[in-house]
Amino acid sequence: MGKVTDVRVMVTGGAGFIGPHVVDRLIKRGDVVRVFDNLSTGSLSNIARYISTGAVELVRGDVRDLAAVKSAADGCELIYHLAAQSSVPKSSEDPRIDMEVNIGGTHSVLMAAREKGAKVVFASSSVVYGRTDKVPTPEDAPLSPYSFYGISKMAAENYCRAYSELFGVPTVILRLFNIYGPGTDKGLMIDLYRKLMRDPGRLEVLGSGNQKKDYLYIDDAVDAFMMAPEKAPCRGEAYNIGLGESYTVFEVAEMMFRTLGLHNVQLSAKGGASWLGDVELTQPSVIKAELELGWKAKVGIQEGLEATLNWFQETLGRVEGGR
Ligand SMILES: NC(=O)c1ccc[n+]([C@@H]2O[C@H](COP(=O)([O-])OP(=O)(O)OC[C@H]3O[C@@H](n4cnc5c(N)ncnc54)[C@H](O)[C@@H]3O)[C@@H](O)[C@H]2O)c1
Repeated sequence: MGKVTDVRVMVTGGAGFIGPHVVDRLIKRGDVVRVFDNLSTGSLSNIARYISTGAVELVRGDVRDLAAVKSAADGCELIYHLAAQSSVPKSSEDPRIDMEVNIGGTHSVLMAAREKGAKVVFASSSVVYGRTDKVPTPEDAPLSPYSFYGISKMAAENYCRAYSELFGVPTVILRLFNIYGPGTDKGLMIDLYRKLMRDPGRLEVLGSGNQKKDYLYIDDAVDAFMMAPEKAPCRGEAYNIGLGESYTVFEVAEMMFRTLGLHNVQLSAKGGASWLGDVELTQPSVIKAELELGWKAKVGIQEGLEATLNWFQETLGRVEGGR
């Protein structure tokens, strides 16, 4: 589909949420990009507009298929590895698939990178820390994941590091915190918005409502993806990529009501755990990324939330009674 020439950059998982934003930025700086995706949760419609410009080629394939990954990596100097089983709850439903895609798939990418001489930027996650009591959490905090997804991301990180140390493959790891923004199809903000669309008078959140997490706007995350391969030594080091501020679910909900102009919404919590494997407190130290990559988040939660809500309004429709 859409054969293009002079591809130097591959984005696995490029048809998901974060991938198209990375692709967009790469194209804007003049790259020609190959997206490698099996479209299991991603969608062609997320990248169709780029394919039609001729700057992006989609190779439909599975990261567990080493031959397919190697063939797609032909000519690439840089591989952004985003393809993953990316859901914590799903990792409890089927730990085996999570392991095969996230560990096996990353290993395929690393083998391909070794053969082609490419650099790898790996999208890891804050969940590798698990329920840490070291807050704000620095990168050298012990890794003690609390979900199968966290375990597979931690293992994949270690494969990246070992491929760098033992085989000289340049790799850099980004530990992303909760990324949100236009294009998102999962996570807290869209979940709350969908509930408000169903019933603008009341909102029941999952868990206690006091889970406190770091939320990073997508444009800031993409900045980190652009800077990391340029600025990092690329010897398998990891960087926290987060806002550096945490908010409870109740606080995010209240911000949302204010921004949407909703009054008197009855806010309650379902209680119990939000889902199996959830980590209820995340707050990164972002000093390492600032010092070594020159990266720091620029978009505050209010600004990011407004942009995201605008996108929800345009794509999902408005919440009754809101602005
Ligand atoms: N969104 C976040 O808040 C967040 C936070 C931490 C880490 N991450 C990581 O960042 C990356 C991108 O996240 P996202 O939110 O865009 O996820 P996403 O689920 O929207 O996108 C993942 C993409 O990978 C593709 N994919 C899944 N399995 C595949 C396979 N076996 N072979 C090929 N392609 C496959 C999907 O079709 C999808 O397009 C993931 O690795 C995720 O684990 C995301």
